[in-house]
Amino acid sequence: MKKIISALFLITLFVNACGGEKTDISSGDSAKEKLAQKFGLTSFEYENGIGPVKEKITLGQIDMIKSKTGEKIFTEKCTQCHKLDERYTGPALRDVISRRTPEFILNQILNPEEMTKRHPEVKKMLAQYATQMTFQNISEDDAKSILEYLRSVNK
Ligand code: HEC
Repeated sequence: MKKIISALFLITLFVNACGGEKTDISSGDSAKEKLAQKFGLTSFEYENGIGPVKEKITLGQIDMIKSKTGEKIFTEKCTQCHKLDERYTGPALRDVISRRTPEFILNQILNPEEMTKRHPEVKKMLAQYATQMTFQNISEDDAKSILEYLRSVNK
């Protein structure tokens, strides 16, 4: 009797495991995975860009001190190519935080050349803007300040 019970238990486990797998395959995550694979990227990279930021970051309330620092760096190093509200050499950035994930934005600031070479969305932008964004010697910390600034200007 004990044997039968443990056999039944094992069968239940097995069936559950298979069922679990099935739902995984049909879920959106797996569709994303496939799309990313098509471009030779992981699904994280597809969604969050390619570069030093390899994990989701947690954002709290906008840090206004960092945002001020970010604004200064933005004016020095980014406004030669970007405006907030109009297309310029590069895309308008006021609403970029609604279009891209924070990690994508950081990777674009920190690793623009590889992003253009490997990320399908950035490739598209290169075709559209016909200019390669270049690395502006930004530290990860400064990039995070710019991110706070971009969060603060988003309407
Ligand atoms: C030489 C001009 C140039 C400079 C300088 C520049 N960018 Fe860019 N940026 C571009 C272009 C052009 C693109 C579109 C991708 C491409 O073609 O490389 C872009 C794309 C971006 C994107 C992605 C926009 C989107 O819609 O996904 C972000 C974010 C960005 N830049 C932020 C910055 C920040 C922040 C700085 C300053 C540290 C900066 N850029 C400096 C030209 C520039």
